Amino acid sequence: MALEEIRAAELDTEQFIAEKVAEIREAVGDGLAINALSGGVDSSVVTMLGHRALGDRLKTHFVENGLMRQGEPQKIVDSFAALRVRVEVADAKDKFFAALRGLTDPEEKREAITQTFYKDVFAQLVRESGARFLLQGTILTDVDETVAGIKRQHNVFEQLGIDPQETFGYGILEPLIQLRKDGVRKVGEAVGLPGELFRRIPFPGPALAARVIGEVTPEKVELVREATVIVEEELAVTGAFQYMAILHEDCVTGMREGQREFGQQIEVRCWDSMDARTATPTQVNWAILERLGQRLVSEVPGVVSVTYGIAPKPPSTMEVV
Ligand code: XMP
Repeated sequence: MALEEIRAAELDTEQFIAEKVAEIREAVGDGLAINALSGGVDSSVVTMLGHRALGDRLKTHFVENGLMRQGEPQKIVDSFAALRVRVEVADAKDKFFAALRGLTDPEEKREAITQTFYKDVFAQLVRESGARFLLQGTILTDVDETVAGIKRQHNVFEQLGIDPQETFGYGILEPLIQLRKDGVRKVGEAVGLPGELFRRIPFPGPALAARVIGEVTPEKVELVREATVIVEEELAVTGAFQYMAILHEDCVTGMREGQREFGQQIEVRCWDSMDARTATPTQVNWAILERLGQRLVSEVPGVVSVTYGIAPKPPSTMEVV
């Protein structure tokens, strides 16, 4: 069945929230549901909708997959504690790195993350909690790209003919599936999220694994995590839709203190976009790029090359994996 898009300009947020809250209550009945909060815009909005609908009968978890940004688990637990939402941290780092070991193909990496999330980590959380439903923040752009065969987004099932109940043993509710990012932000504001959460730049479900070309190891993720801190600090002033650091697979020849250093390359991407369907590289001021380059080569161990992505989407996509 084709999903009917609700465009941000036509979105009546109060009516949307009331409808989704009623639908969640109806589906879950007097049972329990769980959701995974990554701290991204979509899962933050779903958490607020779910708690409005179910109160404490929604169990919210932050899955520590080892692929998140610096300090993220504590930041999210604290931000939601201030909204009176309790978030449990589930440590699953080893499971994700084990599933990713030896994989270099982008779609195989995505599939490994999907299977680990849904078949392993969530399935266990569902079993332990007695919940029958998982609430998640799939949006229309995720569905489009998956169905078109461009990228298998980690959270899309029914549109691929996969029945989550049969495959994973629980139902999935997707209250945001008719929206795109601009619509989700409007709902986020209306549902009471603070600006620092609903205005946050998007962050993908596969997290920093989407930004490591080739095999994803804890060491490579740590390197891209350090680079991400710097990129996010330096590019926040641009107000761009999204910006990111990417770790390339090949090393290149560099030099430091007169010695040859065969080191890492970081690619920086910064995107202007409305809804992530198409995007163009932001015309970042040269002085900002220069400082960014300086910081990356001096503060991230082993980095000797920094490039800025200038290809538009399409034919590029925003993430590299
Ligand atoms: P791409 O790379 O496909 O990204 O041009 C478009 C937007 O979607 C985000 N993205 C994802 N979000 N699960 C998500 O929830 C995913 O698997 C995923 N892959 C990409 C990406 O960060 C960008 O905002």
